[in-house]
Amino acid sequence: MALQNLIFLFFSLLIAQFPFSTAQNVVKATYWFPDSGISASDINSTLFTHILCAFADLNSQTYEVTISSNNQNSFSTFTSTVQQKNPSVKTLLSIGGGNSKASDFAAMASQASSRKTFIDSSISIARSYGFQGLDLDWETPQNDLEMSNLGLLLDEWRIAVNNESSDSPLLLTAAVFYSSDHYSVSFPVDSIGNNLDWINIMAYDYYTPASYSSPKVTGAHALLYYQPGRVSTSSGVDSWTGAGLSATQMVLGMPYYGFAWKLVDPENHGIGSPATGPAVSSDGSIRYVDIKAFIQNNAATSVYNSTVVANYCYSGTTWIGFDDVEAIRAKVSYAKEKGLLGYFTWHVAGDDNWVLSQEAYSGWN
Ligand SMILES: *[C@@H]1O[C@H](CO)[C@@H](O)[C@H](O)[C@H]1NC(C)=O
Ligand SMILES: *[C@@H]1O[C@H](CO)[C@@H](O)[C@H](O)[C@H]1NC(C)=O
Ligand SMILES: *[C@@H]1O[C@H](CO)[C@@H](O)[C@H](O)[C@H]1NC(C)=O
Repeated sequence: MALQNLIFLFFSLLIAQFPFSTAQNVVKATYWFPDSGISASDINSTLFTHILCAFADLNSQTYEVTISSNNQNSFSTFTSTVQQKNPSVKTLLSIGGGNSKASDFAAMASQASSRKTFIDSSISIARSYGFQGLDLDWETPQNDLEMSNLGLLLDEWRIAVNNESSDSPLLLTAAVFYSSDHYSVSFPVDSIGNNLDWINIMAYDYYTPASYSSPKVTGAHALLYYQPGRVSTSSGVDSWTGAGLSATQMVLGMPYYGFAWKLVDPENHGIGSPATGPAVSSDGSIRYVDIKAFIQNNAATSVYNSTVVANYCYSGTTWIGFDDVEAIRAKVSYAKEKGLLGYFTWHVAGDDNWVLSQEAYSGWN
């Protein structure tokens, strides 16, 4: 082999070994919101690379991003507060959320002028409050036109964000449905891939006790692997990959909460056992920290099912499906093996003495 070829080979190997990339190494994120049970200063931010502060609002008249008066204080000090324990943690302001009106977002995204108002106000509010990024939580565009307007919004947002600061542009992310298809309406995957740093895949709430369409049997709400008749996290990730999004732009959501069901027969307590509906709360939702207290106080039996990757516990007629350390560990290894960018959790106040956050954090390393 000629010397030139050897030298070329040497440098090729060197470059392959040390890619000149500025991309994120890994995202270990969580969401926080006021009234969640802990204050920003309680967050053990050493366990996260990014913390999302939820939620800023969309003004339905002006289409500006606003922060409600109740949240002014906690949002304006959020970044400096969480950076006290971890100076390198980055913060993002999340806009919208499950309780906001999807139709307001659809109206905003339908006109160039309102998109510009939204975008400009989002950037100026992020900067003035000290956030390093923005997260769109529009749940969810309902039809092809709204999806295509979402694509336009992201195109224009990326241009504006890069124009505002070429040195350190704001991070731009979106919380999205577990699948690239929202009931057969496809997300604008090309625009998402071109414009967002990553998507936060909301990989939970698949199957819940208060949902009227569900058959009344117990089940996991965030199972990783396929079970006949149920959607799963792995099928969602596969759909995003199949639609053309790079795994390196996907951040996998994991719940710090579960759902409680009321069993028909306390002796019949597996996955798929007959149940009448929610227990414990009106929709059955219950935070991990409260599930641990339930297990303790009722001497409940705890089971891990590694086939679907989900934990559950039961005592008397109460059955709770949730993610404990085993499910979190399996999901983190899955995300890593699939080459995903990282994970996020909803929401940080659900954790019990940092057990799940520590499992996830060290599980990735
Ligand atoms: C925060 O997490 C770190 C890393 O796991 C741990 O060493 C520390 O004890 C935690 N702090 C608190 C207050 O739990
Ligand atoms: C780019 O930035 C300049 C200066 O901040 C601003 O005046 C202009 O409107 C921006 N352009 C876009 C497309 O956001
Ligand atoms: C795990 O769950 C699946 C799906 O419900 C079920 O078929 C299987 O028997 C369960 N495995 C164990 C060990 O309980």
